[in-house]
Amino acid sequence: MDAFEIRGGQPLRGETRVYGAKNAALPILAATVMTEETCVIEDVPDLEDVKVMMDILRTLGAKVERVEDAVIVHPKDIRSANVPPDLMRRMRSSIFLMGPLLARFGEVRVSKPGGCVIGQRPIDYHLRGMRALGASIEEKHGFVRCTSHRLFGNEIILDFPSVGATENLIMAATLADGETVIENAAREPEILDLANFLNKCGANIEGAGDDTVRIQGVHHLHGATHRIIPDRIVAGTILLAAAATRGKVTLTGAEPAHLTALLSKLREGGVRVSTDHDIITVECLKPWRAVDVRTSPYPGFPTDLQAPFMAALTTAVGTSVIRESVFEARFKHVNELTRMGADVSVDLQTAVVRGVAQLSGASVEATDLRGGAALVIAGLMADGTTRVEGLQHIDRGYQQLDVYLRDLGAAIVRVSS
Ligand code: UD1
Repeated sequence: MDAFEIRGGQPLRGETRVYGAKNAALPILAATVMTEETCVIEDVPDLEDVKVMMDILRTLGAKVERVEDAVIVHPKDIRSANVPPDLMRRMRSSIFLMGPLLARFGEVRVSKPGGCVIGQRPIDYHLRGMRALGASIEEKHGFVRCTSHRLFGNEIILDFPSVGATENLIMAATLADGETVIENAAREPEILDLANFLNKCGANIEGAGDDTVRIQGVHHLHGATHRIIPDRIVAGTILLAAAATRGKVTLTGAEPAHLTALLSKLREGGVRVSTDHDIITVECLKPWRAVDVRTSPYPGFPTDLQAPFMAALTTAVGTSVIRESVFEARFKHVNELTRMGADVSVDLQTAVVRGVAQLSGASVEATDLRGGAALVIAGLMADGTTRVEGLQHIDRGYQQLDVYLRDLGAAIVRVSS
């Protein structure tokens, strides 16, 4: 059981590079099963969720190797379309294998993902979309089995722009007969990255990154080499940590256009932000002004940065109102922030953050990935020492977060107990 021990009060300073996005790498690794040829995926972060996806691909029969920052998948020998339940349970995103395996094998069996700490997280949009493409779906004993001799293009209108459903349906439609049109599609940059990878493999996808995506089915995909886009959520977390500790950090290898909503909220809070091609610099010399935030699908303010942003706002001057509109229960970090002296009250999907002069270090526990990142930021801001437990959640999405922050001057160590 590892924990981070953080001595707060050190402003983050320096320059660091952003690595590839977990949320782009996972669906792209899943998509490799749709071809028989080798795929080289570059700048894949070395994270728990990525390791689980690599293990799942191996269990299905693929040869998978990591060479420095790249993951090389040889999917020729994949024979099984049954995702092992124990691995499936270790990562919600294994649901991404439904579309690709159904498209390649005409059948797939996955264990049904349950709700998680941030909400119910049903998969009804995924299943409704698969049915629209001609799949039969049977839900029994905690498993979902999809079968179809052939998938056929269709028009699918999503009730909500779900990232995962958009990705899963793009993958399934890629090898279907005819044209599929997905309306009210999610527009996250990771969806465009997936489509760019699939198009390199020979798919015919237009409009990804927009709310109408058109996919002309093709019969065959070949292998490709693809470099993952930078992780906008990791970038955002580091920028927030820098600004919350009144430091100055320059991120290289970033994509400022993917962070427009965050950067504009940082400016509203009084943080100095400058961008130049793939470089973002933030600098903050005085306390933030309170800022209201409402999360929404891209290009709105990302729900994945809600908790880290809240941590930074706990010492802002004035009262901030945060509305979480994407997930119904994404405020689990509030209790722990309160233990550190934050003044936050929650009513359903709204949190009211009254700025306090200073947080004080405490022993706290991460219960989800981004909530965990928020506690680390709070620890960096706080007076005294903070111990953050529950690192298995943080490790799912941040590669050696302690090393990354230490390089920027933070006093943080990983301890085993
Ligand atoms: C992805 C991201 C996650 C991010 C989220 C929203 C990955 C691996 N994860 O998750 O980091 O927080 O987008 O930006 O990319 N919903 C349904 N039925 C469905 C599918 C979704 O009701 O079939 C609901 C969800 O419960 C949630 C909302 O739609 O309230 C958005 O979820 P979705 O966009 O699907 O999130 P994920 O793809 O799971």
